[in-house]
Amino acid sequence: MTGSNLDTHPPRTHTCGALTEADIGRQVILKGWSDTRRDLGGVIFVDLRDRYGLTQVVFSPQDDVQAHTSAEELRNEFVISVCGTVHARSAETINPKLATGRIEVRVTELLILSRSAPMPFQVSVHTQESQLAGEDLRLKYRYLDLRRPAMQQRLITRHRAYQVIHRYFDARNFVEVETPTLMKSTPEGARDYLVPSRVHPHAFYALPQSPQTYKQLLMVSGLDRYVQIVKCFRDEDLRADRQPEFTQIDVEMAFATEDLVFGLTEGLMQRMWQEILGVEVAIPFPRLPYREAMRTYGSDKPDLRFNLTIQELTDSFRGSGFRVFDHTVDQGGHIVGLVVPGMGDRGRGYMDRLDKQVVRRRIGAGGLIYMRAPSSGAPPTCSVKSHVLPEDYVRAALSTSGVRAGDLLLVLCGQWPLVQQQMGALRLHMARELGCIDRHQWKFAWVTDFPLVEWDAREQRYTAMHHPFTSPKADDLELLASDPGHVRARAYDIVLNGHEIGGGSIRIHDSALQQRMFDLLGISRRECEERFGFLLEALRYGAPPHGGIAMGLDRIVMLLTGTESLRDVIAFPKTQSAQEPMSGTPASVEPQKLKELHIRSADL
Ligand code: AMO
Repeated sequence: MTGSNLDTHPPRTHTCGALTEADIGRQVILKGWSDTRRDLGGVIFVDLRDRYGLTQVVFSPQDDVQAHTSAEELRNEFVISVCGTVHARSAETINPKLATGRIEVRVTELLILSRSAPMPFQVSVHTQESQLAGEDLRLKYRYLDLRRPAMQQRLITRHRAYQVIHRYFDARNFVEVETPTLMKSTPEGARDYLVPSRVHPHAFYALPQSPQTYKQLLMVSGLDRYVQIVKCFRDEDLRADRQPEFTQIDVEMAFATEDLVFGLTEGLMQRMWQEILGVEVAIPFPRLPYREAMRTYGSDKPDLRFNLTIQELTDSFRGSGFRVFDHTVDQGGHIVGLVVPGMGDRGRGYMDRLDKQVVRRRIGAGGLIYMRAPSSGAPPTCSVKSHVLPEDYVRAALSTSGVRAGDLLLVLCGQWPLVQQQMGALRLHMARELGCIDRHQWKFAWVTDFPLVEWDAREQRYTAMHHPFTSPKADDLELLASDPGHVRARAYDIVLNGHEIGGGSIRIHDSALQQRMFDLLGISRRECEERFGFLLEALRYGAPPHGGIAMGLDRIVMLLTGTESLRDVIAFPKTQSAQEPMSGTPASVEPQKLKELHIRSADL
């Protein structure tokens, strides 16, 4: 039957992943996509696919002549409804890898519900990752790419994460409150996406970079515990782990302390890993002050799955007479080393490529110096000639950094924190080269004690390292006027396997201190009043001490599903250039619409 009865076709009795040997003999109705069709000498086999699985359906003239004739029309991705009987597969056609691999459905009725134009690329379950079409094409036809089971599984994992999150917070007295999407700018450090107001000429809404101010106001309101799975928008340079619109698990608590926020977050991570992956993660997570993370791993989101650590070698090279080092030290900079075990045998070609392509081009450092430990009494080797960098200093550095025969010592010099970050990037590169990153390990950690502010040399002013509502540590309050760069914040990040998966802080709940913070950031009283007057005012009416955290849901799901791009875990993501190729977003709008919004384009 084709084409007729389309309005009244009976509902399916089973999904395509449900039938087993227990159903043999049963009359069933299945619906789905024709994943692949094989015509084997008059008998047609179709793999019928839906979200739940794959069932082999068979069209033979012996079972039904008309169904068999209609099946000749079938092509990939036609949507069909079949009625038939479940049979055992013959022994040689059993597929033990498939849940339905021991049965097939012999069809007596076929209804073609929808035909497919020739597909722009294959989405069959049989398509190997290596045969996939390029990502640009797949993004243009995202709705087709999402037919692939691998893609569907990631979205389903994401769905399961939402459910764990809702249950977890509900059981702990959190209230889910929606905050506005059209709001006033919050300073999370990125550019805003702005929305012009039609009613108020030349006034703009900002899309939330986060609901930071609103969640604090909810604490002033006495909501006590707030959570929201919320979309945030940031107009910033994109990377594999950054999207212009992304989702946070946003949390705020009255009377919060670091320990309370850490305990709550650790419990959530433990529950997600348990329920979604069946993996037990040990809590509490280790805590690492920011300076230590930078000193040891060259990153404020260190990957702790491998044991390469950065060594401070400034003292070993002090006064060596080697101009590059002496100049760095005179400028107050650092010389740092990284021991790479077992790589001392790499030849000149490898080391030159490492220097040019990785250290200089990718990492942006001035250049790489390397040394090798002597094997049994032989002199050490160094990429800088011994009349330029005397051997004693090389020996001292090798000994300080604990290099053993066969190891390689990589050395960079420069200013803190840049040189640490560069060595941190080289550390990651070398770990990949060594193949010592275990993809099955989950290394969570807290990074704490961030500086409250950092100096922006271009703008010649301090900027908040987290955001301006973050409380300074009480012990450092007196430095606020004299040495702001050394004030530590009550801010923290949670990191996992080298990714920052969340960040938060204990907030300033005192209006006067908040005003001092704005003063320190060089925000004028007028600008303050205009941008944050409502918050400053709210803090005057009995604001409880409070704090919280926001976790990056997309990043968490990316890690849970083992992919390397946020695009894989977002149904309709943006590309690196912030476009959505399928619908063609962003797009120009008609001049009339711009006029209504009181906008005149410079190009018109
Ligand atoms: P923060 O700016 O650290 O904190 O953001 C919290 C977490 O959100 C994720 N994230 C992103 N994920 C994908 N794409 C992006 N462009 C992106 N930007 C951030 C990260 C990050 O750790 N209001 C504060 C939180 C607070 O103080 O409570 C905030 O937004 O995983």
